[in-house]
Amino acid sequence: DSNENPAVRRLDDWNAEELQALVDDNGSPLYVLDLDRVRENYRRLDQAFPDAEILYAVKANALGTLLETIHEAGAGLECASAGEVTRALAAGAPGSAVRYTAVNPPARDLDVVVDAWEDHPDLTITAGAEDTIDRLADRGYDGRLCLRVNPGIGAGHHEKVRTGAAAKFGVPAERAVDVLADAADRGFDVVGIHAHVGSGVQSEQLDAHREFVSRMGDLARDVADAVGDLEFVDVGGGFGVPYREDEDPLDLDAVAEATRDAIGDIDATLSIEPGRYVVADAGVLLTDVNTVKEARETTVVGVDAGMTTLARPAMYGSYHPIRNLTADDGAARETVPQTIAGPICESGDVFCTDRELPASERGDVLAIGNAGAYGYEMANQYNTRPRPASVVLEGDEVRLARRRETIDDVTRLETDRRRSDRDSN
Ligand code: LLP
Repeated sequence: DSNENPAVRRLDDWNAEELQALVDDNGSPLYVLDLDRVRENYRRLDQAFPDAEILYAVKANALGTLLETIHEAGAGLECASAGEVTRALAAGAPGSAVRYTAVNPPARDLDVVVDAWEDHPDLTITAGAEDTIDRLADRGYDGRLCLRVNPGIGAGHHEKVRTGAAAKFGVPAERAVDVLADAADRGFDVVGIHAHVGSGVQSEQLDAHREFVSRMGDLARDVADAVGDLEFVDVGGGFGVPYREDEDPLDLDAVAEATRDAIGDIDATLSIEPGRYVVADAGVLLTDVNTVKEARETTVVGVDAGMTTLARPAMYGSYHPIRNLTADDGAARETVPQTIAGPICESGDVFCTDRELPASERGDVLAIGNAGAYGYEMANQYNTRPRPASVVLEGDEVRLARRRETIDDVTRLETDRRRSDRDSN
């Protein structure tokens, strides 16, 4: 029943009192992730792509308890680094469910992943450059190999995330047959081809998706003819979610149909690697209002969270819905345009400019929506600002999933200090 599993969860659908209580108990800023919603999002994907193998893109949110949840729900895990491979295996995923997509991989990453392969011989490595294959061979790797190709077409919510045409990703598609034939000759177990068109693809970009999967279909047929059958064709992730209140959800069935049309005839499993779609609307970021002031041209609302907590607005100009949870208490407040800004010493540290919201007061709690994907993962410690805590919700339970960093956590790694008494007082 689609009512039980709606395609979108809006910020207004969260319970204001419950969220406010989380901040009372755990402090601000605070990331909240609803594991039940994660399962619902996964289930919708599984229903739209019943024959596909779904690998969750760990980079969107790598919290351990989330990886365990999503693996239990049936997904494999697509990893962008040795660190993510390590977390995926620690979450209990068997090698067969782990795929490592190497992008200009540092030697240390290859060392760690090849080491992991010795214990988990079913894991798959996706190479995006010919010399990555050489570097794997140098380390004695002759396991499951997938080739990332550059399809020459990109799509997505921002120039910075349209990977499909960006030169840094993949081997040009026209080279793929030769590269794979050579790898097969050298004893690698050639299992698939891969490409990722970009991130945040919406229904309006369905034509780009169609063109992209049709190129992947053509390539898969060429590879099958010249090298042999592939086990899978991996078309990456990129399924967009609505961030604006009036935006429609992506038509997943239309995406699935376009994909089936392009590669359904091929004797290989379709793989997809959604990240954002699984976690974006399952997460919110909560933050206290600490300052309210009239500036010359706008009302500035200062909050505890900043661009170090949620980088997307500063980095891509991304819109995130914002709701004043305290103003939800029924006492009517005037609506005023406000600029909501963080504590970082950069003018780009704003979540919105002149957005119409109920007048904020110091001590209010704001919720920033769609923070489950690329939120905590992109957080950093600039301005010596410890990263926030994360709580997860599941059924009636609330659990602290990751504690808040302390200032000591941030300075702990320094090894050259002149003052030896620094810990003694
Ligand atoms: N597979 C590969 C190889 C990828 O590079 C990515 C994302 C995905 C899957 C998952 O894409 P998704 O389904 O989440 O769109 N930080 C940016 C997004 C960067 C995405 C990079 N690659 C943002 O906050 O919008």
